[in-house]
Amino acid sequence: MTDSPPADAPTEPTLPVARPYSPGLEGVVAGETSLSYIDGAAGRLLYRGYRIGDLVERGTYAAVAHLLWTGEWDAAQRLPTAEIPRPVMDVLRALPSDAKPMDALRTAVSAWGSTQELPWPPTVEQARALTAFSPSALAAFARLRSGKDPIDPDPSLDLTTGFLYQLTGERPDPGTARALDAYFIVGAEHSFNASTFTARVITSTRSDVASAVAGAIGTMKGPLHGGAPSEVVDQLAQVGSVEHAEEWVRDALARGERLMGFGHRVYRAYDPRAAALRKVAEGMEHKPDWLQMAIEVEDVALRVLAEKHPERPLRTNVEYYAAPVLMGVGLAPDLFPATFSLARHAGWTAHALEQAANNRLIRPDVNYVGPEERDLPG
Ligand code: COA
Repeated sequence: MTDSPPADAPTEPTLPVARPYSPGLEGVVAGETSLSYIDGAAGRLLYRGYRIGDLVERGTYAAVAHLLWTGEWDAAQRLPTAEIPRPVMDVLRALPSDAKPMDALRTAVSAWGSTQELPWPPTVEQARALTAFSPSALAAFARLRSGKDPIDPDPSLDLTTGFLYQLTGERPDPGTARALDAYFIVGAEHSFNASTFTARVITSTRSDVASAVAGAIGTMKGPLHGGAPSEVVDQLAQVGSVEHAEEWVRDALARGERLMGFGHRVYRAYDPRAAALRKVAEGMEHKPDWLQMAIEVEDVALRVLAEKHPERPLRTNVEYYAAPVLMGVGLAPDLFPATFSLARHAGWTAHALEQAANNRLIRPDVNYVGPEERDLPG
């Protein structure tokens, strides 16, 4: 026998009580990976155990991509850029010349997927083919939008050199090629960031690697993820000179703006990728003339950020020194985010392989915060 509650008793909620939720999933463990290890407190980044600084100094992007895909280190690996299938070139030609390069790249990857057999599970060959295709597609779009013909890949060149050649029609000098290769190495992989997580969610549904990478590019397009280096260039242009740096930084923070190239969800120490790229930038033959100003503005920004946010260490991130390296190799700032995406292809596809090897559909829970069950009015 049950007692019925008195008529004026508060009604019990009929929906389950919320469980703890971490906005932005900060601190939530959402998987396991053997691809990279980030020690945010100490500012360390390892790819399959190898230090990022050593990989930049002694490795190539081809060797690093192979390491991520297979777990094996082979310094002699080669990875030339690949041909663009005819239907994909038609799609690139159909895009408006003012299309954003990230939109063009995402569209090209999607179109490429429609021309390939990409059976489940994804393979190293699929990862390699897509990683080799995308630089050709971005270079072709960059030429088409300015009325130039695309340039066929040169199989004797490796991926980053080939990309610059297909972009400009000239074979870059070794220093320039090396600087872009170093950038691609530091951009290749970074654990469970938003775009990589996207790629893993897509892969977990047993979708194909082109869909995973197209989705990842869409995620990386956001300024909080991959859009920062071109904004670093804009901000430095606004700063203008070291004498104005402090005033500009204080005004920007007072307006509630964020300083691009600073802060990170995981790193509390100096981003080791920024340290590696700063070295590359300083050693470049054709460094932008504002590099020295950037180094001095960094000191001012770090000091003012520490003063404004004593509770949260905000340090330089990879994007800050990506900006001078990418400018120095001759890329237009609006190509920076898409170039970052090219570099990250190795990591995204390696995560697709890792997800598929031990797959379970990614489907988290959510706390419902809407109205209680109720009757439709009338
Ligand atoms: N400039 C100024 N303040 C910053 C800042 C920055 N670059 N990054 C973080 N902060 C401040 C925020 O304003 C916030 O303070 P508030 O709560 O008083 O507003 C506090 O630090 C915490 O920021 P939060 O956004 O919660 O940290 P996050 O972990 O979500 O942010 C980033 C990580 C990267 C999105 C963030 O640092 C950022 O926007 N940086 C600039 C963009 C950038 O360089 N992106 C490339 C990342 S590799």
